[in-house]
Amino acid sequence: MKKVSLFILISVQIIYSQVEYDPTLIRGATACANCHPAAVAQWEGTAHFKVFSGSESEPAMHRRPETKKILKKLGMKSAKRGVCVDCHFTTQHLAGKKRPRAISGPSCESCHGASGNWIEIHGVYGNDASGGKATMETEIASHKVDRLKNADDNGMIRTSNVYEIAKNCYKCHTVPNEELVNVGGHNAGSEINFSEWLNNDIKHNFLYSNGTENRGAPRDFDIPKRQNKNKVIGLLVDLEYGLRGYAKASSDGAYSSAMQTRIETAIGNLKNYDSAGVHSTYISDAIAITQGIKISIGSVNSLNETADGVKKIAQNLSLN
Ligand code: HEC
Ligand code: HEC
Ligand code: HEC
Ligand code: HEC
Repeated sequence: MKKVSLFILISVQIIYSQVEYDPTLIRGATACANCHPAAVAQWEGTAHFKVFSGSESEPAMHRRPETKKILKKLGMKSAKRGVCVDCHFTTQHLAGKKRPRAISGPSCESCHGASGNWIEIHGVYGNDASGGKATMETEIASHKVDRLKNADDNGMIRTSNVYEIAKNCYKCHTVPNEELVNVGGHNAGSEINFSEWLNNDIKHNFLYSNGTENRGAPRDFDIPKRQNKNKVIGLLVDLEYGLRGYAKASSDGAYSSAMQTRIETAIGNLKNYDSAGVHSTYISDAIAITQGIKISIGSVNSLNETADGVKKIAQNLSLN
């Protein structure tokens, strides 16, 4: 009897939620809807929305039989508390409430950052040169620089930084949690392709057309250039998170072998990527630092160092 309760205690501790954002700063998709109605409507058509609300063909995630099986294996009671919420839900902690609460599936702030400190400032153009209310076109240049910097400093993840957005996708989609996979039987991550998946149904580039057309790139970007960048950064981040994921493995199993496959596939994808010369030095630099890499349990430092190297390359490309 004693043994059993000890086991439960340990597993509860290991699989406790580790949400990285501050739930008191989450405003939720409804707070974006007045100004970004087309983006919200697009999101409502995605798996990210339906995971919480359910759809005609599938119940919400916390009611799915597969979910119950995983919870049982992990000795957990609810998918709305603990580790599952990190990836399946957005949690908000309202002032005066005892606990954070799951309010939706992965949403705007899962990818753009918790907005409490930037929602009020990121879209405010200030006064124009004659002292009237500025618009996007008449905003004073220095005001724009300050506004965007202010938003970034307050945790906003904007479209100018592809690496930071893409990183979020891979942090969830590589499922970097050994116990969840090996004990819980959770699938060991998606074969995610950032740029392709954006094009499928995730993108919501409506600023340029004021809501009428879902453009191939955000407002300030040339479409082919942006898409090339998205493709290469996606491949690099896949490799980075494969390496980080493997570094966390403590034993051979479904988890480590999925991470190994991810690393090998990512390296292969980089080698086979036909960049027609575009961004080719970033690609060859990344391949070079993975040369001779030892993928084995316990090579934590060298795997993480390689991941850091790949990250630097991806960040440089992102900001170039
Ligand atoms: C009061 C209106 C308003 C609200 C509310 C609002 N936005 Fe915005 N948002 C704007 C405007 C205006 C812009 C365009 C800013 C510009 O021209 O640089 C913008 C731009 C953006 C951008 C693109 C920024 C970039 O440089 O890449 C993102 C991402 C964004 N908003 C996300 C959100 C999210 C997420 C929410 C809800 C948490 C939200 N916004 C709520 C008005 C708003
Ligand atoms: C690190 C992120 C992460 C965590 C933590 C996580 N999941 Fe998932 N889960 C995912 C992703 C990503 C998918 C989608 C994979 C795919 O099919 O591409 C998924 C898919 C699933 C699926 C199959 C698809 C579906 O929704 O029916 C189930 C069931 C599931 N998760 C249950 C759970 C449960 C229960 C927990 C908590 C014990 C949990 N997950 C924790 C990321 C996570
Ligand atoms: C907070 C974690 C999280 C983030 C960030 C995230 N996803 Fe997901 N995503 C999920 C989960 C969980 C599911 C599974 C939903 C379900 O059960 O149906 C999913 C499902 C999807 C699906 C549906 C297909 C499938 O395999 O289930 C696509 C496409 C997708 N995500 C793309 C993306 C892209 C592209 C990004 C980054 C721009 C991203 N996601 C960021 C957690 C996340
Ligand atoms: C799964 C991650 C993800 C989610 C969820 C998400 N975004 Fe985005 N968002 C992105 C990415 C990635 C881009 C840049 C797309 C590209 O490069 O083509 C972007 C771009 C934008 C832009 C700039 C569009 C333009 O035309 O310039 C705005 C505004 C925005 N998002 C607002 C929102 C709002 C509001 C929500 C919630 C309804 C939301 N996003 C949900 C990942 C996400």
